[in-house]
Formats: sequence, structure tokens, C-alpha cells
Amino acid sequence: MPLRCATGAVTVPALAAPVPAPGRAAAEEVTRPVPGIVKPLPAEWFVPRDTNAEMRWESLRGADGEAVVGRRVPVERFFVRNHTSTPLIDPASWRLKLFGSGLRGAPARERAVEFGLADLRALPATRIDALIECAGNGRSYYSRQQHQSVPGTPWTLGGIGSASWRGVRLAEVLRAAGLADGAVDVLPTGLDPDYVVNGVNYGPVRRPLPIAKALDDVLLAYEMNGEPLTPDHGAPARLVVPGWVGIASIKWVGGIEVADHPLHSPWNTDFYRMFGPDHPPGGGDPLTTQVVKSAFELAEGAVLEAGRDHRLHGRSWSGTAPVHRVDVSTDGGRSWRRAELHDEPRAHDWTRWSIAWRPERPGPYELRARATDRRGDTQPDTAGFNREGYLFGAVVSHPVTVA
Ligand code: MTE
Repeated sequence: MPLRCATGAVTVPALAAPVPAPGRAAAEEVTRPVPGIVKPLPAEWFVPRDTNAEMRWESLRGADGEAVVGRRVPVERFFVRNHTSTPLIDPASWRLKLFGSGLRGAPARERAVEFGLADLRALPATRIDALIECAGNGRSYYSRQQHQSVPGTPWTLGGIGSASWRGVRLAEVLRAAGLADGAVDVLPTGLDPDYVVNGVNYGPVRRPLPIAKALDDVLLAYEMNGEPLTPDHGAPARLVVPGWVGIASIKWVGGIEVADHPLHSPWNTDFYRMFGPDHPPGGGDPLTTQVVKSAFELAEGAVLEAGRDHRLHGRSWSGTAPVHRVDVSTDGGRSWRRAELHDEPRAHDWTRWSIAWRPERPGPYELRARATDRRGDTQPDTAGFNREGYLFGAVVSHPVTVA
């Protein structure tokens, strides 16, 4: 049953009005609102995609190539993935309700424990640096590079961001609520409006998590980059599930069912699983960890001056292990050189890198970056097809012009 928080005021804002970006004059502002996203979406930072806003990779560098974004992406530049729209939730009246057969005590129906924001803040706090990445990030390359048509948001590679999250470990909250030994799954539910597609109401966004992951490294976050969460990113509290597809990191969490049996929702039965000829007839297992990927901090089709020294910058990441090696090709994959890493490779975070390049001859060039993580996973030349276009981890071809 979809759960609605009994207490706590939730309002869904109307279409976001254009608001000037920080530090910019209203007159020169070009804001393309996305229905349901509250924050300003300057066109130089975001590509609007349906109910979502994709980060532009080239926006991580200024006009003269200097870095304008460090390892963490500022909240105002962070991509947004909403199934419906951002709810405005009053943090003072918000309650998180944990309930279900996986809690100790009274008969299953009556087992329920509520936490307010102050209760969560009173529990021991933890900070983690972690990426949030949409399972469909890179989806457009299935059609562009592999001529495979897939439905869904046509992300390039900007459905990702890294932030510093502070909150309380989900394990801590589950234990405080009286976790039973026999608990199997937890099901966090968002307070955003029901997801309705083609007349089918799938209810509120909710996705089961196995108890082992819930107890391992999952955070119930109330701060992002040192500030209270903002509405678009899950205020007043969201999950952060390191290394896993972004859908696991439920925003605006209002309830968490804890069960002594496996739990199901459309988000682990219909969506976020692999379907297609190379997968079991009923679909593969629900998606968990992300694959290895790389992106250049450069616009597609960027123009670079011939006969000059350039430095190409980028970032690479993996859901399973730190990225410790990146190779770059400037000739469409014929030859490769090793990039210089600028970060200590860390799990669940990206590694920034760069490489020098001096193209002498004008003309079209094709850049490629291929990363390898500490587990030995390397980006392949093609990604395994699946009907919904999830987990595109192949090397991406990045066209530029030298003039
Ligand atoms: N949680 C709720 N309640 N509703 C949503 O639409 N989208 C999920 C996840 N959590 C979603 C959600 C998906 S698919 C992703 S990729 C991340 O939130 C995106 O988080 P962000 O918008 O803070 O970048």
C-alpha cells in the first residue's frame, strides 16, 4: 500500500517561475523552467529534459578553461531527476514513519515509530562524499553510437553529480526503531506526487532495498554540501545509497516499511531492471551498482585552436571501486595515452584527470576516454543492449573541431 505521511504539510509548487541565477542580472538571464523543479535552471548550466535537468559538462570550466567546479558539484548546479515534481515540505511538521513486520515489539500492524528532524539530528551524524547518478545516464548513446532505439530521458552524461552528504546512517535509524533479526527488506517512500504514466497510477516513488545494503553504508541525509537539503534534492531528508543507481536514493522520504519478507514496488518489478533478448524473459535482477564511465569537461563540438597547447580535462567514476586509471585518445581510438589523475581515487566518487594535447592540423577530431577501476573493470567499446537503455558504460565518442 502506498504510504502517506500522516503528519507534515506537503505542497506541490506550481510551475517554477524564472528566477535569476546567483550573481547574474535578470536582464541577461536565460532560464528555461522545467515543470516541477523549484531552483533556477540557467541555460549555461543545464539542459532541460522533460521533468529533469541535466548538468552541462562544459559548465564545469570557465571561458578560459579554468575549473569553476571542484570535486563537489554546488547544489545550485546539481542535476535534478524528478519522476513528477518537487514537493515543498514543512520541515517543522515533517515526520518519518518506520513501520512493518521487520520491527520488534507489538503485532505487525501496530509497529510504527516516528522521527522528526530534531530526532534525527539528535542521533550520531555521519558525513560521506558520494555520487548520485541516474541509471539512464548516457542513454542517448545507445541510439547515437549503437543505433539501438531506447525510450526514456535521452541523457548524455550529465545525469550525475558528486556532493558531500551529512545525516544519520540508516542503520542507526533502523536500530533506534527496533530492527528485528528477521528483517529482509526496507521500502522507503517519497512524499512527491504519485507517478502516473499513460493513465496508470504507480503510486508514490518507492523502491525496496535489501537489509544488508541498508545496514552497510546508506545515509539518511539532511544536509548537502554543508547546508540543509534544498527542495529539489530531497528536503527535509533523503537516502543516499553509495554506488547504486540513483533511484535507490529516495528523496523526500516520508515512510520506511521494514519487512521480514521481500518487498515489491513497480520500481523493482517494472522499472530499473534489464529487459531484452540478452536478459531473462521476466527481466534481470533489480539494478544495483553503477558501471564505469568517463566524461570530458568540454562541450560536444567544441572548437580548439590549431598549433596551440591545450589541456583536456575530465572525470571518471565507477559504482564498485575507485577509478585509478584513465586513457585518452584524440584520434578516434587509434592511439591512447594515459591521463594524469588529480584526485586520490576514492570509492563512490569520481576521479578528475587531464591530459595535454597539441593538435597541429585543423579538422574534425574524435576524443575518447576509457577508465579502469581498482576491481579491474574497464569501459568496453559497446554497452550491452537493454530495452530501457540503462547503464550505458561504453567509451563515448566526443567530437571536436580544430580550427
Ligand atoms: N525520490 C523520489 N521520491 N522521487 C524521484 O523522482 N528520483 C530518483 C532519486 N530519488 C526520485 C527520487 C532518481 S531516478 C535519481 S537519479 C535521484 O533521485 C536524483 O537525485 P537528484 O535530483 O537530487 O539529483
